[in-house]
Amino acid sequence: MMTHMLMPAASSDTLIAAVPSLPSPVVLAYIAAAILFILAAAGLSRHETAVAGNVAGAVGMGVAVLAAIGLALSNRPARGALPTLLLIVMGLALGSVIGLVVARRVAMTGMPQLIAVLNGLVGLAAVLVGYNSYVSPDALSASLGAFHLGEVFLGVFVGGVTFTGSVLAALKLAGRVPGRPLTLPGRNLLNLGALIVSLLLMVGFMMVPSGSGAGWAFLAVMTVIALALGAHLVLAIGGGDMPVVVSIMNSYSGWASAFTGFMVDNDLLIITGALVGSSGAYLSYLMCQAMNRSFVSVLLGGYGTDSTSAAAGGPQHQGSVDETSAGEVAHLLQNARRVVITPGYGMAVAQAQYPVATLTEMLRSEGVEVTFGIHPVAGRLPGHMNVLLAEAKVPYDIVLEMDEVNDSFNDVDVVLIIGANDTVNPAAQEPGSPIAGMPVLHVWEAGRVIVFKRSMATGYAGVDNPLFFRENTSMLFGDAKDTVEAIIRALE
Ligand code: TAP
Repeated sequence: MMTHMLMPAASSDTLIAAVPSLPSPVVLAYIAAAILFILAAAGLSRHETAVAGNVAGAVGMGVAVLAAIGLALSNRPARGALPTLLLIVMGLALGSVIGLVVARRVAMTGMPQLIAVLNGLVGLAAVLVGYNSYVSPDALSASLGAFHLGEVFLGVFVGGVTFTGSVLAALKLAGRVPGRPLTLPGRNLLNLGALIVSLLLMVGFMMVPSGSGAGWAFLAVMTVIALALGAHLVLAIGGGDMPVVVSIMNSYSGWASAFTGFMVDNDLLIITGALVGSSGAYLSYLMCQAMNRSFVSVLLGGYGTDSTSAAAGGPQHQGSVDETSAGEVAHLLQNARRVVITPGYGMAVAQAQYPVATLTEMLRSEGVEVTFGIHPVAGRLPGHMNVLLAEAKVPYDIVLEMDEVNDSFNDVDVVLIIGANDTVNPAAQEPGSPIAGMPVLHVWEAGRVIVFKRSMATGYAGVDNPLFFRENTSMLFGDAKDTVEAIIRALE
């Protein structure tokens, strides 16, 4: 590992001891866990292999935890092993109980916030480990001198940004903090200034003696800057760009873990952190492509509005809407040849995926061709809709991506929009709209469009939807689960 290579010049005894020998069981376990994590990432990228991928990740984590406990115990003198073991068991028990209770209680619609909070905890852990490592460096860290101080400083910095950024992302996703971007004057200069000052503080931190008053001051000031920077970065980003923020925070949490791995000299944590960090960064890039946004412009923020600002300006697309009933939609579906369903966040809120799956099965058994068109940022999580539909046992082969359906809507008789709004908003094609340029599903090109929602409210980006006023659109108001069930009853 790199830290070992940077150790002071080795004596001849050390060199003899360093002659390659058989890897220890811990090293073997770490390699096995790392391979399982890579298999997990690969498995989770496809529906068919997702469960196997999840199992590989869980087994890898089990192996990693056992190996880390074994390593911690083997490094202690016999007398110290028992208290260490007890502390580890207590920590594991407490964490497992909290994790189980939270996982059982959280609704599917609360998952994005939960993930954001978990990312934040990784950041907080990096900050705490960094401080701990500065207070009491172990023998190896102490021998690394300025290199270790650099690890501590960067770990605390990335951890601090991740912590407040993730907490604010969670609050925004939960609607506790408005989605409207905070546009402070000179906000880009503020961010740049924070980075430059932190860099200067790092140089000072590495030059002064470890544990000195100046060292503590540099670390503390940088921590405050990192916490403020994380908050500002997320507050400056508007509602429409939140999907990218969630994956960026996920990536940061990976890098924070990797730095923690350097600080505590744990190779597996470095590998795992780098895996999460780089896959999160790639996901952010894919999200930007899906939203037709450049990575830099998302990071610089200031895009999108929230529902309050839209309401203040008044709806831009007024006119009359056509309201329909479950009976009429059932009749329409009976006579359709091709139907496309485009689900959105409202399907998750209503938990309508089960009746939607039943309706799909009924229509297919009558010879109607039914497919799903999934927008890449539908819902509040990457793959949110795919997870819901898989849960309801909708066959994978009829669940298609936006690009696979977008050119064929003019050959579709009926589109059912179940709780989607921003992802089917034609305003994205109007220059000057807050969501201009975002690719959307071209549902309006179909013969008939039925929108399932409870009111005329806007979606997450807070932008009015002219689709609702189109001639071929009808609104089916109500909770999506209730209305889909009513259609099923009418068909029966
Ligand atoms: P949204 O634009 O958020 O619209 C969801 C619609 O569902 C709302 O207009 C709401 O209207 C309706 N709804 C809510 N509860 C309902 C219920 N019980 N029954 C029926 N309808 C219900 O959804 P979307 O089209 O999926 O777009 C996603 C948005 O979230 C995008 O702006 C995206 O950028 C953002 N976002 C996505 C992610 C990821 S990674 N996917 C992460 C963060 C943010 P009513 O209130 O009138 O019912």
